[in-house]
Amino acid sequence: MKGIFVTGTDTNIGKTFISCTITRVLKEYGIDVGVMKPFATSHRRFSSTFSSEDVWRLARAANVADPDDLMNPFFYQIGTAPFLAATMSGRPTPNLSFAVKKLRRLSKQHEFLVVEGIGGIMVPISRRETLLDFIKMVGFPAIIVTSPKLGTINHTLLTFHACLSRKIRVYAIIINKKPETTSKVQDRLGSLLSTLTGVKRVIEIPRIRNGHNLKSVEKLIARDLLDLEQ
Ligand SMILES: Nc1ncnc2c1ncn2[C@@H]1O[C@H](COP(=O)(O)OP(=O)(O)O)[C@@H](O)[C@H]1O
Ligand SMILES: [Mg+2]
Repeated sequence: MKGIFVTGTDTNIGKTFISCTITRVLKEYGIDVGVMKPFATSHRRFSSTFSSEDVWRLARAANVADPDDLMNPFFYQIGTAPFLAATMSGRPTPNLSFAVKKLRRLSKQHEFLVVEGIGGIMVPISRRETLLDFIKMVGFPAIIVTSPKLGTINHTLLTFHACLSRKIRVYAIIINKKPETTSKVQDRLGSLLSTLTGVKRVIEIPRIRNGHNLKSVEKLIARDLLDLEQ
């Protein structure tokens, strides 16, 4: 079973954007990529085919026709952590083993899986389990998507050490939405995070406007994240 787990320090940090970019790049290199977002919540269903907009985006990037309930076994129609969403809607909380089973099935159909988490690493999935427990069960290395904003050093290190505490390998840290002009502090962020964590791949991705420079982001991801020559 081969794949990567994309988590982040927060919601809206760029997990879907990065997951989709990784997926497109791998596909360009001829790899058959499957996608998954095991747990999703939103105040509304996205469409009749896809409950979650993220899953639609991921499936579009991968150009797959896998069923929605395989890519996203758990969806709740309240936009919050799955545990709370399940409790509030009077439904059972997600069963992690069931989600792993779906992931295994999906991984048999593709060479490589890109799996997007939900929110940050300590998001409660059930009374006693967080996303971290699920990543551990899956066994894929993690990518931490983070931001260049003030406070990010703390958030990134919290996330990194949570992974470390469960022996989850952190494959890379991605500082996403880097502004065009950066402060002297922001300029040092990448090397600081690399020094403090020992993670070799700390990659800065610019904030792009209206999809411009998407190709250059793909090149960065191919070369610096996936070690594919370009
Ligand atoms: N590098 C980037 N440049 C510009 N916009 C971005 C970038 N990364 C993410 N976004 C935008 O930020 C928003 C949140 O990103 P998303 O990937 O959905 O975050 P998450 O999955 O962590 O909630 C989306 O509108 C997305 O298009
Ligand atoms: Mg997302």
